Amino acid sequence: MSAPIVRALSDLRAQHKTWILAGETVGVVPTMGALHDGHLSLVKAAKAACDRAIVTIFVNPKQFNNPEDLAKYPRTEQSDAEKLAPYDVDAVFVPEADEIYPDGYATTVSVSGVSDVLEGAFRPGHFDGVSTIVAKLFLMTGAQRAFFGEKDYQQLMLVRCMARDLNIPIDVIGCPTVREASGLAMSSRNMRLSAEAKARAAKLYELMTKAATQLERGQDWTVLQQAALDQLAAAGFGEVEYFDLRCAQTLQPVTDTAKPARLLAAVWLDGVRLIDNIAVTR
Ligand code: PAF
Repeated sequence: MSAPIVRALSDLRAQHKTWILAGETVGVVPTMGALHDGHLSLVKAAKAACDRAIVTIFVNPKQFNNPEDLAKYPRTEQSDAEKLAPYDVDAVFVPEADEIYPDGYATTVSVSGVSDVLEGAFRPGHFDGVSTIVAKLFLMTGAQRAFFGEKDYQQLMLVRCMARDLNIPIDVIGCPTVREASGLAMSSRNMRLSAEAKARAAKLYELMTKAATQLERGQDWTVLQQAALDQLAAAGFGEVEYFDLRCAQTLQPVTDTAKPARLLAAVWLDGVRLIDNIAVTR
């Protein structure tokens, strides 16, 4: 049996009301569909921590800075519902675009600072789209807890900042990145890689962990970074937008080596943009 699909906001709100009146806690897992084990780990976390779990599926046009990327984004509602069935999700909210952005829609939620670097610098407007839809989904679902993957580390920081600044009463919970056996971070975009490219894509995580280990042993970051860039090129990767070491709390370049750092990367492989990040301890 498939998970219960709810399309109208009024139906979701009616359902939510009964849960709140019964004193139940509600968790939300926002997604754009094309679900994989990374998403399902968030669903498991939501079910473990809350009485009720809502999964949202909405391919948000406002966060795609590239129309071709939006057109190619996988839409797999039927198989998503089947994948969710074993998890006993209480509602799968799949709104229509005109319910989310009706005629005359005029509001954007924008988070400065964290939106300006890395993903924000390479995907202009992307984070305004993300913070706008996530704020709306928080308000629409009325959830008390929200579950996001650390795979999108910058997005997680952005969402935490937005919820805090707007006083939205929700705990934003970050969950570990789920990886293929090869180390490749799970992503809906991986569906667009051939089996051969998918195997090659694992090189990114391999080089990230190698650079992090050598950094932890005291080696010079610029030397490690250049070596990783050379090896990515040799492995047939295309443009490397960034392969950078940043402060884990601000995402600014590392100035204080005593503070936790994060290694973040965005690279192209066979027309598919891959992102990943890992913690670096020194
Ligand atoms: O991470 C995603 O899939 C999307 O950015 C999100 C959080 C569902 C907003 O559209």
